[in-house]
Amino acid sequence: MDLCVIGTGYVGLVTGTVFADLGNNVICADKDAEKISMLNAGKMPIYEPGLEEMVERNAAEGRLSFATDIASAVRSSEVVFIAVGTPTRSNGNADLTAVSAVAEIIAHNLSESKVIVNKSTVPVGTGDRVREIIEARRPDKRVEFHVVSNPEFLREGSAINDTLYPDRIVIGASKQEAAMRLVELYAPLERPMIITDVYSAEMIKYSSNAFLATKISFINSIANLCELTNADITQVAKGMGYDKRIGSDFLNAGLGYGGSCFGKDTAALVSTARNLGYDFKLLKNVIEINSEQPKRFVNKMEDVLGSLDGKTIAILGLAFKPNTDDLRDAKSLDIIGRVLAVGGNVKAYDPIAMENTRKVFPLINYCSNAYEAVAGADAMALVTEWNEFKFLDLVRVKESLKQPIIFDGRNIYDPERMRRMGFDYFSVGRPPVTQITMALGGLQTQEQAAI
Ligand code: UGA
Repeated sequence: MDLCVIGTGYVGLVTGTVFADLGNNVICADKDAEKISMLNAGKMPIYEPGLEEMVERNAAEGRLSFATDIASAVRSSEVVFIAVGTPTRSNGNADLTAVSAVAEIIAHNLSESKVIVNKSTVPVGTGDRVREIIEARRPDKRVEFHVVSNPEFLREGSAINDTLYPDRIVIGASKQEAAMRLVELYAPLERPMIITDVYSAEMIKYSSNAFLATKISFINSIANLCELTNADITQVAKGMGYDKRIGSDFLNAGLGYGGSCFGKDTAALVSTARNLGYDFKLLKNVIEINSEQPKRFVNKMEDVLGSLDGKTIAILGLAFKPNTDDLRDAKSLDIIGRVLAVGGNVKAYDPIAMENTRKVFPLINYCSNAYEAVAGADAMALVTEWNEFKFLDLVRVKESLKQPIIFDGRNIYDPERMRRMGFDYFSVGRPPVTQITMALGGLQTQEQAAI
């Protein structure tokens, strides 16, 4: 099939590349000339495991190309995917400027019948808006077109795998013939497909992200409660997760969710609800709980270390999650900002996100590895759970730190091991480990917890 994907962000680039890999002819088009020339030179504008090899192979075999000429990409395609950004406006609404602009280009270049597929995350009703724009502006009113909603559920860091093996494929269409084009396109993946109306497909995307965000804020609230009791959140989550109705995924307590999607999509859903006269109280609380987690983490450091003024904190992990260099809504930014604001110093290390962080915090001390970061620091703070941090030589970490204190925002270490190794260890929702019984105002020691 001849396809084009407009927008070469995470969703557009990965989707286009995977469709090419399935044997289709794909043009990935973007108005950003710099991005397109990078891609034509074989360089990826984003870090995503496995993407570069897949792009290289499909480009070499002539199925995948990159262009800035969106109009001509539209004209030569039977199916046109819209995969442009929908950032949040200051009032929480999704900004649909890019989607509308692309719809106009499609309208002007609708030379023959096409299926227009919306892959961008858009509020319910956007399919209508795209249809109206194209209907009003297409030069020949006899040329047919269909607008389909086909939301994307891929995650950064595992985007290729998620696109090849999605849990489900959602196709929202008002005409069966349009839905069938997409069924045909996705058939080689052999995954469950659900065909709905356009409105429901648009709603499925937001509801899924909002539900996952709710799961995270829920478990973080339970973790905060565990800290006031003798309970251990990892055991609580495990015990809950075995119930099939609950499921064990997205029950990892920590610093809260970040990234380009959950924050934006929860805000947009609250705003859609408000515009429709519904007060989405639950989701508003989910957002608030999430924004409080980094503050609680820094407060915990202050409880243990006293004032952070003049103290040095080694921050391990800057990206919003492992396997990406993406810093959007990363908890590291919030935490570093808070430490600096009270006069603390930061030594930071991340395997790939340091260049991006430097743009936000040019003056903190960037280190070439985790050991350099902890050297001479008053405490280590684990913010992103990269695999390499799970396997750190903790004996070396202990020797390098000024004092053996670790704050673990992602619960990656075993508290019992930390106790044996002589650390004071503070994680999220688990009893703290301290070598001597300390008065920790609100925090209980391991010894107290054992009583
Ligand atoms: C998320 C969804 O998982 C995808 O299905 C969706 O397609 C995507 O948004 C999108 O709308 O484009 P992503 O933002 O890449 O994907 O990242 P996730 O792996 O879902 O993680 C989001 C955040 O939640 C991370 O900050 C992660 O650390 C946090 N998280 C996740 C937790 O704090 N606890 C958990 O148990 C799971």
